[in-house]
Order: sequence, then structure tokens, then C-alpha cells
Amino acid sequence: MDRYCVFGNPIAHSKSPEIHAAFAAQTGQQLSYEKLLAPLDGFAAAVQAFIAAGGKGANVTVPFKLEAHALADALTVRAQAAGAVNTLVFSEQGIIGDNTDGAGLVNDIVRNAGVAIAGKRVLLLGAGGAARGVVLPLLEHRPAALAIANRTVATAEALVQQFAALAGEGVLSACGFAEVQGKYDIVINATSASLSAELPPLPPSAFAPGALALDMMYGKEPTVFLRFAATHGAATRDGLGMLVEQAAEAFEVWRGLRPATTDLLQQLRTKL
Ligand code: ATR
Repeated sequence: MDRYCVFGNPIAHSKSPEIHAAFAAQTGQQLSYEKLLAPLDGFAAAVQAFIAAGGKGANVTVPFKLEAHALADALTVRAQAAGAVNTLVFSEQGIIGDNTDGAGLVNDIVRNAGVAIAGKRVLLLGAGGAARGVVLPLLEHRPAALAIANRTVATAEALVQQFAALAGEGVLSACGFAEVQGKYDIVINATSASLSAELPPLPPSAFAPGALALDMMYGKEPTVFLRFAATHGAATRDGLGMLVEQAAEAFEVWRGLRPATTDLLQQLRTKL
């Protein structure tokens, strides 16, 4: 049976084995998927041991996405753009590093929420690893504007520089939260502020009428950002859909089959 796993530290909380088991059952694929706790100073050794044991591929989560990027022998374009790797393929040519997080977010917005990105004004909050991973997939959908707002403005400006050549004239911009101007159709919280129940201090006027607000975090209760967005009239969506969609994208990379996600997303929601 083909073996897959997810490496992280901690890893006990991971829903990935459940998600991939559901995808395998649904598509009739014979495979196993386990969670593996890699030592903080032993990620590369853990990957090599898994390859030696016959592993075909792996997901990578906190805190190893940058190490996975460094470890890969070859990177996909989207992994290069993200500067991080969440999906590894162990091939005869070596370790291939991919990143399905951005595609997961975009698919959740476009397919699951039914909101087109093309021609829309998009506001991305944050400029760390999570934000960087979604810039290229968002730009590929040709938004009218993609503004990146961050507490540390210089980091947002660096992202704009990195991606400027790929965006249309005047599409990308950077600013601090308080300087956000204009209204946005899609507002994505890619900061880690929700972890500490903090709110990026953006003006409520940032939400256009009928806006979609998405937080990459998820939990039993809505995050402070989603509560704030709902108060100001936005439709809200947490990061559970992105989690399932990045897994579906990884499953397709490994198995060449696209699993359906709607029912699974509902099932996972009821278990939060
Ligand atoms: P991740 O991989 O989750 O993106 P990261 O690379 O450490 O983690 O980036 C964290 C992001 O959340 C950054 O954009 C950070 O802002 P700074 O660049 O100014 O540090 C942002 N962030 C973290 N805590 C925040 C808070 N309380 N309010 C607003 N932004 C916050």
C-alpha cells in the first residue's frame, strides 16, 4: 500500500489523516496516511527515514515548511513563489517540493463560497509565510486590485516587490492597517493575530457591501476578525475550507484524482 504522512511538531491535532482517508475511500485508492511527529532538530532525517521505508509523499506543517523548501531537490513554481513547501513528492528524480495552500484558499473562495476573484478588489491582511503563499494563486485569478496590509509595512512592501512583475500595472499595493483606503470585495486575514484573539486594526469601511471576509484560522467559534467583519456586513468564512481544499490539491498531486470536498467539509464542521 502506498504510504503518505504529515510531518509537524506538534502534530497530534492534525486533521489530515482523517481528510486523506476520506479522499482515499471516496476515490477507491489504496493508501495509508499517518501523522508523524518530527523532532524540532530532525526534520530532514525524519523525511529520509520515511522515504527509506517506502513513503511516496508527505504533507508538511508548522514549523517545517521552510525546511521542506530547503530540502527539496526541485520546486514547483508555486512553491518557489510561496517560499515554503507543504507537499512533498518522493520521486525517482528526488524530492519535489510543492505548495497547495494558496490553491486551497483560492478554490475555497471560488468553488465553495462561489465568489469570483477576477475583477474584484482583494485585501490581504498579513505579509508572513501564510500571506506570501497565497499571493501568486490570487494574482492568477486577475483581481482588479490586491492590497497587502501588514503591521510591519516594510514586509508588505517586500511582497509587492517580489510579485510586481506578475501583476498588472497598479494592481498590487502595500500599506499599514490604519492606512487601508477604499472598499474591498474580499478581505483575507492571513495574520496570526487570531491565535491570540487579536484584531488587525483595519477601518470598518474596508468592507464593501456584500464583501466576503475569510480568516485562515478556524475553530469552534468565529475568530475576532470574523465577528468584526460580520458586524460590518460581510459574509464570513473560516479556514476549514482552505484546509480541506489544500488537502484535495495535494491528493491530486499524488494520485492524479480530484476528490469531492463538500460533504467532508460539512462533516468536519460538525466535529469542531
Ligand atoms: P505565518 O506563517 O502564520 O504567516 P509569520 O510568517 O510569523 O507566520 O507571519 C505572521 C503574520 O501575522 C505577520 O504578517 C505578522 O505581522 P508582522 O509582519 O508585523 O509581524 C502578523 N501578525 C502577528 N500577530 C499580529 C497581531 N497581533 N496583529 C496584527 N498582525 C499580526
